[in-house]
Amino acid sequence: MEVQGSEAEEPRFWCLFSSRTTWPRTSLIVTLLLSVWSAQGLEMSTGKVPFLEAVNGSTVLLPCTYTSCIGIKNLYFSWQFNDNGTMQKVCDSVIPSDGMEPHPVNIFRQRVEFVGNSEQNNISILIWNITFDDEGQYTCFGRNPKEKGKNHSAIFTLVVVDELRVVDNTLTIIIASAVGGAIALLMTFMLVKNFILFVLFKIEEKKKIECLVSSSADETNNVSGSKASKPPTPKKK
Ligand SMILES: *[C@@H]1O[C@H](CO)[C@@H](O)[C@H](O)[C@H]1NC(C)=O
Ligand SMILES: *[C@@H]1O[C@H](CO)[C@@H](O)[C@H](O)[C@H]1NC(C)=O
Ligand SMILES: *[C@@H]1O[C@H](CO)[C@@H](O)[C@H](O)[C@H]1NC(C)=O
Ligand SMILES: *[C@@H]1O[C@H](CO)[C@@H](O)[C@H](O)[C@H]1NC(C)=O
Ligand SMILES: *[C@@H]1O[C@H](CO)[C@@H](O)[C@H](O)[C@H]1NC(C)=O
Repeated sequence: MEVQGSEAEEPRFWCLFSSRTTWPRTSLIVTLLLSVWSAQGLEMSTGKVPFLEAVNGSTVLLPCTYTSCIGIKNLYFSWQFNDNGTMQKVCDSVIPSDGMEPHPVNIFRQRVEFVGNSEQNNISILIWNITFDDEGQYTCFGRNPKEKGKNHSAIFTLVVVDELRVVDNTLTIIIASAVGGAIALLMTFMLVKNFILFVLFKIEEKKKIECLVSSSADETNNVSGSKASKPPTPKKK
C-alpha cells in the first residue's frame, strides 16, 4: 500500500527565529520581538504543504509535528475532522513529557492509525483505504498545560479524487503553436524582406559601380580625345 503525504518541516529552527507567519518587511523588528516572545510556546505544524490530493482507496499520511521551546508536560493532542461544520474527534492522547510515547492513543474513526513518534515530536496519522467521505479539513490540535490552557492548531486538507487528473495541455499547446507559428511567420517575413532589400542594394551597388566604370571610361575617352570637358553625367533611370 502506497503512502502519500508531505513531510512536516524541521521544527527546531523556529524556536530561535520566527513564528511561522509571514509578516511585511516593515514590521521586521516587531516580528522579531514577537517571535522571540511567542516562540516560547507550543507550535503545531502540518508541513510546508498542508494539502494533499489522493485517489480513493489509497492510504494517506496526515503529517503533524509540534515544537515547544519550554518543553512539554502532559501535552494533550488530538486530530479532529471538520464534518460539515461539526468537529469530530479522530484521535487523541496525552504525551507525558518530552520523548515519551503517548499511551494509549484513542482512535475514534475507522481506518485511522496513529504513526507518530515522540522522539521526532511527530503526531502524524495514517488513514487507510480512503473513501470520498474522508475528504475535508483535519485539525491537528495541541495544548500544553505549561502554557495555562493555550490552544494551538494546524489544519491539513485532504482532497479525494477518482483518479489523479492529468493536466490538460491541449489549450496550452494550441496557444504555444499559434504564438510560435506567428513568430516563425514574422521571422520568415523579416528574413525575406531583408534578403530582398539586400538583393536590391546589391543590384543598386552594381549599377553604381557600372556607372562609375563607364563614366571613368568616358573620362579617359574624353581625356584622350577632345579636351572639351563635360562633367560625367551619371545615368539616371
Ligand atoms: C512522522 O512519522 C511518519 C510515520 O513514521 C513519517 O512518515 C513522517 O515522515 C514523519 N514526519 C516527520 C516530520 O518526521
Ligand atoms: C474510486 O471510486 C470509483 C467511483 O466511485 C470506483 O469506480 C473506483 O473503483 C474507486 N477506486 C478505488 C481504488 O477504490
Ligand atoms: C451540511 O449540512 C447542511 C445541514 O446541516 C446540509 O444542508 C448541507 O447539504 C450539508 N453539506 C454537505 C456538504 O454535506
Ligand atoms: C485496506 O484495503 C485492503 C484491501 O483493499 C485490505 O486488505 C485492508 O485490510 C484494508 N485496511 C484497512 C485498515 O481497512
Ligand atoms: C481551548 O480549547 C478548549 C476545547 O478543546 C476550550 O474549552 C478552551 O476554552 C480553549 N481555550 C482557549 C484559551 O481558547
